This record gives sequence, C-alpha cells and structure tokens, in this order.
Amino acid sequence: MTDRPILMFDSGIGGLTVLREARVLMPDRRFVYVADDAAFPYGAWEEPALSARILGLFGGLLERFDPEISVIPCNTASTLVIDALRQAFPGHPFVGTVPAIKPAAERTRSGLVSVLATPGTVKRQYTRDLITQWATKCHVRLVGSDRLAQMAETYMRDGFVDEQAVKAEIAPCFIERDGRRTDIVVLACTHYPFLANRMRKTAPWPVDWIDPAEAIARRALSLLKSDGQERRSNTPAFGHDLAIFTSGKPHFATARLMQGFGLSLA
Ligand code: DGL
Repeated sequence: MTDRPILMFDSGIGGLTVLREARVLMPDRRFVYVADDAAFPYGAWEEPALSARILGLFGGLLERFDPEISVIPCNTASTLVIDALRQAFPGHPFVGTVPAIKPAAERTRSGLVSVLATPGTVKRQYTRDLITQWATKCHVRLVGSDRLAQMAETYMRDGFVDEQAVKAEIAPCFIERDGRRTDIVVLACTHYPFLANRMRKTAPWPVDWIDPAEAIARRALSLLKSDGQERRSNTPAFGHDLAIFTSGKPHFATARLMQGFGLSLA
C-alpha cells in the first residue's frame, strides 16, 4: 500500500480537466495539483527558457511531495520537456501528453483534421513528427491560438466568455476542400475542454472534438504499482488533495475553483 500522491502539473487550471477524469478512475488516490501560474501562459515562451524552468521546478516538487508518478497533462510543457524530465529523473514515472493526432487520423472520414493548440505546441518539432508518423494520409491543419487558454482561465474564474472571440479563435480550424469538410478538431491544450460547449455553439458545422483527458488518466492508472483496491474500505483520499500555485497568491476566485475541485491550497 502506498500513500504517495499522484502529481499533476500544468501551466494553470487546464490540468483540472484531466484531474476530474483521474479522480473517477482513481478515487482512492491522493493528488497534488501544481499550477505554474507565475509563468502562465506557457504558449508564448521561448523553448530553452521554458524547458529550464520546468526542469528546475520538478527538482523541488519531487523532493517535496515524493509522488508515485507525475502526470504532465499540459501539451505545451509535455511536447517540450517530457524526454528531458525522464532523463533528468530516471526511475520516476512520468505520464506525458501529446496532441491526439493519431486517433484523429484513424477516425477522420473526410481526411481533414485540425489541431487546436497553443502557439508553443503548434511549433514544436514533437508535434510535426507526430503528423509525419501517424497522419500522412490526411491533411492536418495546425491552429495556434494566442487567446483561448487565457479565455478558459477567465471563464472558469469569472464565468464570462466572449462567444464572438471563441468563434474567431476556432474559425481557422474549419476547412472546406473539394466538397469535403473538416470533421475532427483535436483539443491539444488542457484548457480548451472548459470551452467545449462554446466551441460547439460557435462552430460553423458540427465536428468531433477530441479531448484526451480520459486517455491520459487511464495511462496514469496503468502505471501505478497498486490499484488502490486495498485502501478502498477505510481510506477515502478525497479531502486530502493539494493545489500548489507557483505565484504563491492565486486570485480569490481561483482559490474557490480549487475548492470546487476538492483541492486545498498548500
Ligand atoms: N494548458 C496548456 C496546454 O495544455 C497551455 C496553456 C498555456 O499556458 O498557454 O497546452
């Protein structure tokens, strides 16, 4: 039996979309949710500086929380540093995230797929390699959004979102070519599922929106040494989960949101 937590790391509140799936699959586990809000948004960072920052943070986080595994649901971080993290901390299991290009390529009927992500994720070699590896038979459009992650933060914090702005940000995902239309949009940023209903509402035609949250949570579950069965009767983990903000001072509404997700601020 282990009491070591599962650590989840994101640039902001986006990873909560994965935490809620992870909770369903691993109700007996303890979670430590880390938001690097002092550096948010990651999307615009230069790669070497962001990489050094995340590697530096992890040294301290692993020492402080001694997690059994670490999950990096943040696409912008994972596509940049997952290999470096594994090298820097050998023996510690990391679950990364990559844009769901492979499942999209397998599922598309029209052959037109779009990947909606931060500008950072869109320009990563990692993302380009996924297309070459898995999606040569279809047309993949990479759409980098400067604003959606921040809009999702504001929406979750203040309950407000400008629908016309959502519409404008997702518009480049929709292509018509030779009588065919985009039929899948990959949500390759943890923040975006929070805006999924607004995206559906403002999309020019219906598409399949791929949210990898459940798949990431399942991968994390598969890496755990014990499945929590033995804890089930007497140790409910809920209520002991922590949220860490690297700024040390999250907005009041963000703190409330963490409470809503069952996380106490550390
Ligand atoms: N949540 C992040 C992702 O999944 C990015 C948001 C940002 O910091 O720009 O890519």
